[in-house]
Amino acid sequence: MNYKELGNSGMNVSVIGFGCWAAGNDWTGTNDEKSIRAMREAIKCGINFFDVAPVYGFGHAEKVLGKALGQQRKDVFIATKCGLRWDDEKNIKRNLTRESILEEIEISLSRLNTDYVDLYQIHWPDPNTPLKETMTTLAELKEQGKIRNIGVSNFSIPLLEEASKYVEVVSNQVLFNMIERNADSYHGLPLTYRTESEILPYCEENNIGVIPYSPLCQGLLTDGFSMEKVERGDMRCANPQLRGKKLKNNLKFAEELSNIAARSKKPMVQLVMHWLISQKAITTIIASSISEKEVRENVATLDWTPDTELLAEVDQLIKRCCE
Ligand SMILES: NC(=O)c1ccc[n+]([C@@H]2O[C@H](COP(=O)([O-])OP(=O)(O)OC[C@H]3O[C@@H](n4cnc5c(N)ncnc54)[C@H](OP(=O)(O)O)[C@@H]3O)[C@@H](O)[C@H]2O)c1
Repeated sequence: MNYKELGNSGMNVSVIGFGCWAAGNDWTGTNDEKSIRAMREAIKCGINFFDVAPVYGFGHAEKVLGKALGQQRKDVFIATKCGLRWDDEKNIKRNLTRESILEEIEISLSRLNTDYVDLYQIHWPDPNTPLKETMTTLAELKEQGKIRNIGVSNFSIPLLEEASKYVEVVSNQVLFNMIERNADSYHGLPLTYRTESEILPYCEENNIGVIPYSPLCQGLLTDGFSMEKVERGDMRCANPQLRGKKLKNNLKFAEELSNIAARSKKPMVQLVMHWLISQKAITTIIASSISEKEVRENVATLDWTPDTELLAEVDQLIKRCCE
C-alpha cells in the first residue's frame, strides 16, 4: 500500500481507502457479515482510511464499521460526516446548526464505538445555517478532542474559502470519476462546484486533500457491473448515469475501457484506480467494496504501473466519449 498525507492533517492515509455506504445495506448484495469481512480484509491489505456517514443505512453503516474495527480502531482513520438528519419517515433534511451538530457527534461516537473521529466532514452545505456557526462548532469539538480534523464535502471554492476563515479545512470530498469529471448534479441534486476544472487545481495549490466519491461511477466502471443488480431495488436506481440514454453511452465507454484494460490483462477497475491515482490533487480513493474479493482486487491495483502511453490512451477515450 502507498500512503499520502491528507492536506495538512498529519494523517498518512492509504491511497486506496474504503467507502462504507454499501455497508448501510442500501445496496443489493450486501449484509453485515459480508461487510465486516470486507472491512477486516481491507485492514489486512493496508487500507487505513474508512469513510462513512450517519445517513448511510440511517445509522447502520456506522454501527457495522464500529463492530468491524473492534480492537483495531486505533490502527485506522475514521472519517464520518454531519449535516444530514432524518425524521421517522426517513425524510432527509440538511441541518448544520450548532445544536444539531453537538447532538450528531455524540450519536456517531456511540454507533462507531469510539471516543474520537479522525476526520469530521460536513456532508452537504446547509444554506439555512450561517457557515460561521457551523465551523466554530466544529472548532469547539476539535478543542474537546472529539474530532481530530475538519473536512467538508460538496463545497464550492467560495464556500471553502469562507470555511477556511474559521478553521483549517484539511479535505474536500467531491464527485469525481472518469464519466463525471465536472458534473453539475448528483442523483438529481445540483452541485455548485466543478471538480476537474475548479476543485482539483484549487485544492492542489492550497494543500487541501481531495477525496473523490463514487470513483467507480457506482460500479459501472468495473467488470462486475450489470443492470440486473441495479434493477433489483438498489439505491443506485436513483443515479441518472445508470438510466436511459446516459446509461447506454456509459456502457459503450466502459466496454472500450475494458478492452484497453484487457490488453494489459488487468481488470478495468485497476485501470480506473490508476487513472485516479495519477491525478496529483487526489489523496485517497474511497471505493465501496462489498466483498473481500473486491477489496483484494482493488488493492492489487498497486502491484503494477501503467505506462504513460496507456494512460494517454485512456485520456483520449475519456475525451472522445465523456465530454
Ligand atoms: N460525500 C458524498 O456526498 C458522497 C456521495 C456518494 C458516495 N460517497 C462516499 O463514496 C464512497 C464510494 O462511492 P459509491 O459508493 O457511490 O460508489 P463507487 O465506489 O463508485 O462504486 C462502488 C461499487 O463498485 C463496485 N466495485 C467495487 N470494487 C469492485 C471490484 N473490484 N470489482 C467489481 N465491482 C467493484 C461494487 O458494486 P457491486 O455492488 O455491483 O459489486 C460497489 O458497490 C461511498 O461508500 C461513500 O463513502 C460520498
